[in-house]
Amino acid sequence: MRINKYLSSIGVASRREIDRLVESGSVIVNGTMATPGMQVSEKDVIEINGKKLHKKSEKKLYFMLNKPTGVISAAKDDRGRKTVVDLIKCKERIYPVGRLDFDTEGLILLTNDGDFFNKLMHPKSEVYKEYHVDVMGRVNKLEMDKLKRGIKLEDGITLPAKVELLDSSHETSKLRITIREGRNRQVRRMCKAIGHPVIHLKREKIGELGLGDLKKGGFRELTKKEVEYLYSL
Ligand code: URA
Repeated sequence: MRINKYLSSIGVASRREIDRLVESGSVIVNGTMATPGMQVSEKDVIEINGKKLHKKSEKKLYFMLNKPTGVISAAKDDRGRKTVVDLIKCKERIYPVGRLDFDTEGLILLTNDGDFFNKLMHPKSEVYKEYHVDVMGRVNKLEMDKLKRGIKLEDGITLPAKVELLDSSHETSKLRITIREGRNRQVRRMCKAIGHPVIHLKREKIGELGLGDLKKGGFRELTKKEVEYLYSL
């Protein structure tokens, strides 16, 4: 079976993510660097980023992290910057479910379960994500309505969003914005489009799962109930 198909079928990551890993030279098959499209089977010994793959016996792991700013949402960074995986003390190979920008903080999930990853990342899953946002200037009702209805961005109109004004002064406003898409820098682009650039952005919730009292940089394993809940979304 082709390497990307094989590794995604046993839940390592999505095919696209595997292609990226193969291209970056992070996948070793029987001691030799893997090539895109190569054929592999159960008999092969496969290592990813120096960690041997434990096929069927692989224990499924699920973490939540309160990501600080200044950390990359990836398993590995070419430029050697700290990643969300570096913050989790786990010997197994795990990877983030989706991304938060370098300068965004808050809730991010990590796992080694490819089905979980695919389920949450599928565009049709439309899982709600709640952000607390500080923006420049006072946001008025008309601008709030624009955010709620959908905003025209370069990659199309955004889906309707839930938007609440938590506080505002002449200089800044605090908003709670809940969206069910995951486009690149979406909240930042939405706020900029109504003339209020983001100063600070934090993801508080994915569905009903929140950070609770997890401190910045802190992580914990998800409970069985939480994993079941996220699978149900
Ligand atoms: N929207 C953004 O603009 N950035 C993030 O990190 C997440 C959502």
